[in-house]
Amino acid sequence: MCGIVGYVGPRNAVPLLLEGMQRLEYRGYDSAGVAVRQADGRLAVRKRVGRLANLEEALETEPLAGQLGIGHTRWATHGEPSEVNSHPHVDCAGNIAAVHNGIIENYLALRSDLEAKGHVFRSQTDTEVIPHLIEELLKDGAVSRSAAIRQALRQAQGAYALGIVFRDEPAVLYAARCGSPLIVGVGEGEQFIASDVPAILNRVKQVIYLNDGEVAELRPAGVAMAKLDGTPVQPEIKTVTLRAEAAERAGFETFMLKEIHEQPRVLRTMLETHVGKDGAVNLGEVSDLLAAEAAGLQRIVILACGTAYYAGMYGRLLLEAWAGIPCETDLGSEFRYRHPRLPERTLVVAVSQSGETADTLASVRLARRMECKVVGICNVAGSTLLRESDGGLLTQAGPEIGVASTKAFSAQLLAFALLAIRLARLRGAMDAARERELTAALARIPDGIHRVLERQDDVRRISQKYYECYNALYLGRRFNYPIALEGALKNKEISYQHAEGYAAGEMKHGPIALINEFLPVVCLCTPTADEVRDKMVSNLKEVEARKGRIIAVAAEGDATLQGLAQDVIPVPETIEEFSPLINVVALQLFAYYNAKLRGADIDKPRNLAKSVTVE
Ligand code: M6R
Repeated sequence: MCGIVGYVGPRNAVPLLLEGMQRLEYRGYDSAGVAVRQADGRLAVRKRVGRLANLEEALETEPLAGQLGIGHTRWATHGEPSEVNSHPHVDCAGNIAAVHNGIIENYLALRSDLEAKGHVFRSQTDTEVIPHLIEELLKDGAVSRSAAIRQALRQAQGAYALGIVFRDEPAVLYAARCGSPLIVGVGEGEQFIASDVPAILNRVKQVIYLNDGEVAELRPAGVAMAKLDGTPVQPEIKTVTLRAEAAERAGFETFMLKEIHEQPRVLRTMLETHVGKDGAVNLGEVSDLLAAEAAGLQRIVILACGTAYYAGMYGRLLLEAWAGIPCETDLGSEFRYRHPRLPERTLVVAVSQSGETADTLASVRLARRMECKVVGICNVAGSTLLRESDGGLLTQAGPEIGVASTKAFSAQLLAFALLAIRLARLRGAMDAARERELTAALARIPDGIHRVLERQDDVRRISQKYYECYNALYLGRRFNYPIALEGALKNKEISYQHAEGYAAGEMKHGPIALINEFLPVVCLCTPTADEVRDKMVSNLKEVEARKGRIIAVAAEGDATLQGLAQDVIPVPETIEEFSPLINVVALQLFAYYNAKLRGADIDKPRNLAKSVTVE
């Protein structure tokens, strides 16, 4: 949700800003802008509505250069996407420029106060109060610029990551964070700021993760940090292990397709990390936390949003089935406002690809105030979620750039499988032989996914028959019910085809009214032998009787389904509990080709942003 990048050093900032902004564009892409302190002493601002390419074109026509600058890719919250609402925003005199990610909640009060003092605002954004407030605080010359920034931020309520530059301070870049992610990239004789690591991965290997309430002052020679009250903070520099290529498209037509194809490797890496040669699961610090908590655990609450929530629904089924603990899944945006009543010894498992989702984090903080221990399942090292959890499980999917989550989702499913096995073992609900059996089945999943990927052209051909439909229904049962929800979400997110996910047994309680010869009904029908299989076949018969167009994700060689469905996506069989890990890949490909055939911008779907750091 909005991408920030900044540079101070000996080089021309503009190409470095644009490079970082390209890598951050998945955070927001309705407009983009830069502010550059030029050698002639001016603070030049350039903004364009739409994709970053529009700004790049403008900068080619009218180039800017300077050794200090900030850039921003926007996902609009306050004020429509327009040039005037694009960042950077400046004060009245044009001496101070700021880029912002987050929401300044008390901006209306601050704005009217500043307007009463004569400040003239140009945009409808909340952000614009920041440069004006700093300008106001600097008016009588009594405080330094950094003191004015700290004072301004003590007045601002809400969430922010900020990059700020001053016209008459050509070699200092200021950064501040409260609730929205921001990192400092530490180079040799030059410094960067960015919303996340991949943006500056090929420029620096050392980073500082800013904490809430910290302000950093970056000069080419080094970084100084302080809290909002001025207390100095010792910067904690961390070395980044990610490789720059991890954030490249590597010859694939889109990041999403690349990320779909990376899934076998991602799962193998996680299995190598967490499953020993003896077939036993080890989750590092999470294992230690579980060992301390397991015996007395009363309840598990899984908190997440969007796709991660569906992974949580799957996790709940495994945790209840194997570890025998009552478990519930809640949306971050609901849990935080529902005044939850949790029994003592409730363990919270929070799931988030980015680790920066505002609602998930707010729920985690609430749970911590209720004295719950928190396990964070997250794909981004150094993220807020991992830092605020008692134990963190990194999903090792690598940077996920496509806005629609794919490989991070499969990694979350696997994380839950491993977590449930470990907890079941710790509680004595599972023996070592069963653990070995399950981890052996998991070890075969990457090859199974590979087999689905080999059939991507077949999936494309199936999409060709359905991509023009207005609606689609997705059905699954038990472990595949969350996958039906995820498949429908993926489809609507990237192809804009309306899609509903349903528990197949619920179909006759309402959505059956939709079924006619025009409605594609995507049915998850593996494995062939389990408790709900016959029920699923009966549901398909109900669809067939109403002339619905059945697309079945079915086991290779499943003759019953071949006879029943118009189209079959054959997938290799595994045990029911792990079938979601394979089935979801078929649905990702189906959504992908629907979107491609509909001409959608797959990596940057309309209105979405990768990381939802506002409520
Ligand atoms: O970073 P998170 O996993 O916390 O994000 C949660 C949702 O915003 C995210 O899963 C969203 O639904 C994706 N666009 C799904 O593809």
